[in-house]
Amino acid sequence: MIKLAVPKEIIDFERRVALTPDCIKPLLKMGINVFVEKGAGELSSYSDKDYSSLGAKICSNSTELYRNSNLVVKVNRPTIKGKINEFSKINEKSDIIALIYPDKFKKEYQMLKKKKNNVFAMELMPRISRAQSMDVLSSQSNLSGYKAVVDAASFYNKAFPLMMTSAGTIPPAKVLVIGAGVAGLQAIATAKRLGAVVFAFDVRSATKEQVESLGGNFISVADDDGGETSGGYAKEMTKNYKAKQAKLLEETLSKIDVVISTALIPGKPAPQILTKKMVDKMKSGSVIYDLASEFGGNCELTKHGENVEYKSKFIIGPSNLASTVSQDASRLFSKNILNFLNNSTENGKFNDFNWDDELVAGTCLLKNGKQNNLKG
Ligand code: NAI
Repeated sequence: MIKLAVPKEIIDFERRVALTPDCIKPLLKMGINVFVEKGAGELSSYSDKDYSSLGAKICSNSTELYRNSNLVVKVNRPTIKGKINEFSKINEKSDIIALIYPDKFKKEYQMLKKKKNNVFAMELMPRISRAQSMDVLSSQSNLSGYKAVVDAASFYNKAFPLMMTSAGTIPPAKVLVIGAGVAGLQAIATAKRLGAVVFAFDVRSATKEQVESLGGNFISVADDDGGETSGGYAKEMTKNYKAKQAKLLEETLSKIDVVISTALIPGKPAPQILTKKMVDKMKSGSVIYDLASEFGGNCELTKHGENVEYKSKFIIGPSNLASTVSQDASRLFSKNILNFLNNSTENGKFNDFNWDDELVAGTCLLKNGKQNNLKG
C-alpha cells in the first residue's frame, strides 16, 4: 500500500503546498493513501479540514508524517532549517518527488545522495507533448508570467490602458516582453488584457506566430540563425547576433514603459541582454521586471530578491513569484504530480513507477541514492 506524505514546506517565503485537496480522491482511487502534515496547505488557503473531509489523514507533525510513508511529495528539495532536518526524517523507503535543482543546491543534493531513496526531480521532466500535463516548470512559469505583469503594473506610476477622459487622454503603456516562452507568452496575454501595447522578441523565430496570435508585435533581429536547437530550445547566440540585438534594443527601449524579461537558456546562466547603458536611455518611472533574476538576470542591474531603484527607474528581481499566487500554483503543481503518478498506473492502480517509461527515467535523478542519469 502506498502511503503518500505531504509535508509543510520549510524553506523561507514558500507558500505553496505540493498536493491540494482536489487530488485526494483520484489518488485514493489509484490505491494511494494520503497523509498531510497539519497546516501544510494553510498558506495556500487549504485547511486541514479541506484535506481530511476528502479522505486524507492529518498528521500532527513531520516526524509522525514521515514515519510510515513510502512516497514523499514536496514542492522544494529536502533541506535542513533550524531544528528541522528533513534528511533524517524522511525514511529510506520513501520515493521523493520535488523540485531538486542539484546544480544550484549542491549541499542538499550531496545529502540526498547519502541516502538510498529514489528521487524524482520534476524540473527534469522531458519536454515532449505527452509530458505537458506533468510539466511543473510550465505550470509555475505560466503563473509567474501573469503575476510579473500585475506586479510591474503596480510599480509603474502610470496607468496601463488607454483612457479618454474629460480631463485628458492617457496613452496606453508600452510593454516589451523579452523571451516568448511559457512565462513570456502569459505576460503578453496579461499585458494585453490590461490594455497595454505589447512588443516581444525571442531568439527563436518560431515564436513570432505565437506572439502575434496574442496580439503582440514581434520585433525581429535580422539574422539568418533561428536561435533554436534541434530540440526546439533557445541556444546561446553569436557575438554578431548579440550586437544586432543590443542595437535594436537601444532604439526600442527609449519608447518602452515596462519590460518583462524572461529569457533563459536551459542549463546556462540567463543571457544578459539589458545593459546599464540601455537602462540609462529608458524613461523615468519605467520598470524592468526581471523574471530571469534567479538565474543571474537579463539586466545588468538586477539583484535577485531585491527592488533596485536606479535613476528613477525600477529593476525588480522577484524571488519565487509562483509562491505569491500559491493557491493556484499549488493546485497546478498538485495536478502535475497526480498526472505523473497516473502515468505509472496499471489498470488504474499505482504500485510502483513504470521504470521503462521515458518520463519516469528522465525525471529520476537518483535511483536508490545512486546517480540515475547524466544530470545526476
Ligand atoms: P525558458 O524559460 O527556458 O526560456 C524562456 C524564453 O527565453 C524562451 O522562449 C527562449 O527562446 C528565450 N530566450 C533565450 N535566450 C534569449 C535571448 N537572448 N533573447 C530573447 N529571448 C531569449 O523556456 P520555456 O518557457 O520553459 O519553454 C520554451 C518553449 O518550450 C515553450 O514555448 C514551448 O514551446 C516549449 N515547451 C514544451 C513543453 C512540452 O512539450 N512538454 C513544456 C514546456 C515548454
